[in-house]
Amino acid sequence: MKININNKEYLVDVANNPSLLEVLRDQLDFTGTKYGCGEGACGACKVLVNENPTPACITPVTSVAGKKVTTIEGLEVNGELHAVQKILLEEDVFQCSYCAPGMILSAVALLKKRPNANEKELIDGLNGNICRCCTYPAIINALKKLSQNNSE
Ligand code: FES
Ligand code: FES
Repeated sequence: MKININNKEYLVDVANNPSLLEVLRDQLDFTGTKYGCGEGACGACKVLVNENPTPACITPVTSVAGKKVTTIEGLEVNGELHAVQKILLEEDVFQCSYCAPGMILSAVALLKKRPNANEKELIDGLNGNICRCCTYPAIINALKKLSQNNSE
């Protein structure tokens, strides 16, 4: 079947009913999407499906037919990182960064819906993303700067 990843069509093998994560990593080499728990609980594998954060590990690839999938590789436009990527880099929030792709994509979706999200909304919105290094306060503080800038 064909799937749309980062605005490009790819032909993928669905013979063994693979998950979206297996297709992204093993067939298409989009290795920015990480494998964590494999059961929809940690958020490491989150991508956007029609702009909604979605755990790719429990999403059958066949379910994204006709939809738009965005991975961390698709956020950069013309060499320019997304504002969420920029602020998290500037503020140097991550340690190992394993959670970063899923965390960033969840934050992108949240701030698209709620550009001026307050602290509680940011915490609630990122609730499905686990950071093993516990960098949560740094992530939330950086995103608060972005949402405050959006409201100025
Ligand atoms: S690896 Fe998919 S939610 Fe943890
Ligand atoms: S920075 Fe290590 S898991 Fe989040």
